[in-house]
Amino acid sequence: MSLKLTLPRVIGHRGAAEAAPENTLAGFREAKRQGAVWVEFDAKLSADNRCFLLHDDTVDRTTNGKGAARAKTWDELARLDAGSWKGPQFAGERLPLLKETLALFAELDLAFNLELKPCPGREIETARLVLAELRESWPVSRPSPLVSSFDLPCLEVARDEFPEFPRGLLLEEHPADWAAIARRLDVATVNIWDRDASAEWAGEIKAAGYGLLVYTVNDAERAAQLIGWGVDGVFTDAPRRVGARILDLPA
Ligand code: G3P
Ligand code: MG
Repeated sequence: MSLKLTLPRVIGHRGAAEAAPENTLAGFREAKRQGAVWVEFDAKLSADNRCFLLHDDTVDRTTNGKGAARAKTWDELARLDAGSWKGPQFAGERLPLLKETLALFAELDLAFNLELKPCPGREIETARLVLAELRESWPVSRPSPLVSSFDLPCLEVARDEFPEFPRGLLLEEHPADWAAIARRLDVATVNIWDRDASAEWAGEIKAAGYGLLVYTVNDAERAAQLIGWGVDGVFTDAPRRVGARILDLPA
């Protein structure tokens, strides 16, 4: 896939997850305040198929609730407090629906990477419903989002049914056959874990013509090193701090 999008140096990870509760509207506003032009977030389905934002399989870590997200209806999820765990100033922050998140991005003029993060066993339907909503709510006249996933079935649905969105292959390891996977899924970017990043692999990914993004980089000096290796951009919980170090580096 040719790269239809200009990749940013800095992508606010789950919003601005160091300063504000991850995957919340408050977090995206904070990312914008910190100067982020792009943000990343994780999208999944409620039990009654509403598209909403949450990283984990359960609501335990980032809300005042308990239990598997896939077992909860949107009514139940919408009642949870997704801010207090991060600090009393965020009390009352809710889990956002995808639709309201996209409306906020339009208002703030934020570009984004939507990560398909399905509840286990719901890969295909998550990709279908989330991307259908993205197609409906995000006019093609706006800058194109990047759609990524660790789940290959999600990327297959994206490739076959929603080809207008550039895709990112998220990798948690350094598979020997990464290039074959990237080619088969016809992705625009390869998004690798900082732990696995090396100058050599970065060179291979760039030489193969892919955009290269690295997650999650909160150390500004490490971010500068990655940019020096040819990495296009980093996902960071601290967009202002990391951006201050890398935004002006030469390409
Ligand atoms: O998309 C980059 C990064 O968000 C992938 O890992 O676990 O933070 O969703 P994770
Ligand atoms: Mg993510």
